[in-house]
Amino acid sequence: MEALNNHIDPTKLPRHIAIIMDGNGRWAKTHGKPRVFGHKNGVTAVREVTEICAELGIEYLTLYAFSTENWSRPPSEVGALMSLLVEAVRNELKTLNKNNIRLQAIGDLDKLPASSRKALLEGIEATRNNTRMTLVLALNYSSRWEIVQACRQIGQQIKEGHLNPEEVDEQLFSRFLSTKDIPDPELLIRTSGEQRISNYLLWQIAYAELYFTEVFWPDFKKENLIEAILDYQRRERRFGKTSEQLVTDVKF
Ligand code: IPE
Ligand code: IPE
Ligand code: MG
Repeated sequence: MEALNNHIDPTKLPRHIAIIMDGNGRWAKTHGKPRVFGHKNGVTAVREVTEICAELGIEYLTLYAFSTENWSRPPSEVGALMSLLVEAVRNELKTLNKNNIRLQAIGDLDKLPASSRKALLEGIEATRNNTRMTLVLALNYSSRWEIVQACRQIGQQIKEGHLNPEEVDEQLFSRFLSTKDIPDPELLIRTSGEQRISNYLLWQIAYAELYFTEVFWPDFKKENLIEAILDYQRRERRFGKTSEQLVTDVKF
């Protein structure tokens, strides 16, 4: 492990890693257990990955915990996921504070059950002054929802005369997204072998490196994260330029 860790170039770390934590249900199935058992074990992976990211010096970690589309799952599974959220936030609060990690959330939080929203907001409030890393939970999140609500707000601002249409550019638009204070992720990881984005951070991942692994989320451990970062560091991020131009470029 140490050996793997030592290969990471600390000057080329992504500032922000986003993860689509997928495969809890299939993981549970391989263990002959109900899906909820997979979600419970998924929380263990969240804890491990959060800690290692903080140790490595990653500034932002955004985890897709519940998509807007996930409401269409059986009510018992949705209920279990919401209870797990309350439980996890409450249980982890001490550790988050001990590790100086700030909790934040993106998504349509108003539509969460009152108890889940309450636990979440309490967690955000209790950790707001922490500075080592920001852990962002995407909850009832959908990228298209986020983009549409940004358009609505911008439209309203124009209507009220606070904004001219000419002023709307990429920078301004980003400020109306729920990620307004968060840099775009440089690395997006999806577990469980699925190779799709599932309505996650569509605007923000415009130039992210995508990393897909077959590993189910509850099995995703420190070494898997390090492997993803090493893979990221082997890639050449060109941002539209040619390889030759990058040699003289100072920016990674
Ligand atoms: C990811 O695992 C967790 C959530 C979406 C909440 P899944 O529950 O999607 O697991 P699979 O994809 O069915 O195996
Ligand atoms: C994406 O996983 C959402 C989360 C990880 C919370 P899903 O398992 O819901 O995605 P699809 O339905 O397979 O695309
Ligand atoms: Mg899934």
